[in-house]
Amino acid sequence: MSKPVRVLFVCLGNICRSPMAEAVFRHLVREAGLEERFEIDSAGLGGWHVGEPPHPGTRAKLEEKGIDQTGLRARQVRREELGTWDYIIAMDEENVAGLRRLGAPPDRVRLLLEFAPETGMREVPDPWYTGDFDETWRLVEAGCRGLLNYLRQQEGI
Ligand code: 4NP
Repeated sequence: MSKPVRVLFVCLGNICRSPMAEAVFRHLVREAGLEERFEIDSAGLGGWHVGEPPHPGTRAKLEEKGIDQTGLRARQVRREELGTWDYIIAMDEENVAGLRRLGAPPDRVRLLLEFAPETGMREVPDPWYTGDFDETWRLVEAGCRGLLNYLRQQEGI
């Protein structure tokens, strides 16, 4: 079988949006029986919360939706790893700019909501500031579903 497709979700702190996306995407991949075909992780551009579990707002949402959150711990993205990911999925334009500054290959960096045009949004607003984890859930879930469909087509999975 071909080697797994490597997908990294990135936000600022790696405690609200990108760990939610990692957990939801893993869930969808597992549901589809495609665990062997993907390697999935998340990381933050900032290092303030390294080693912490997700924000209580993200934890509550994942719990409510019955999504496994085992092992989620914040970490900071490393310059050296950027070339190893096939898809680097950013939550907002600020993340994209930060990834570019770190030297991420531009063609591998995409916004999550590119894959969910039906939301009418381009960026996932940061719930660290908005407090609106319902919105985060709605956008992240739509983005992850769209991303999985896209990758299955793109990668012939
Ligand atoms: P996230 O949210 O990028 O979705 O994880 C944030 C979490 C923490 C901070 C900023 C955004 N912070 O400044 O500590």
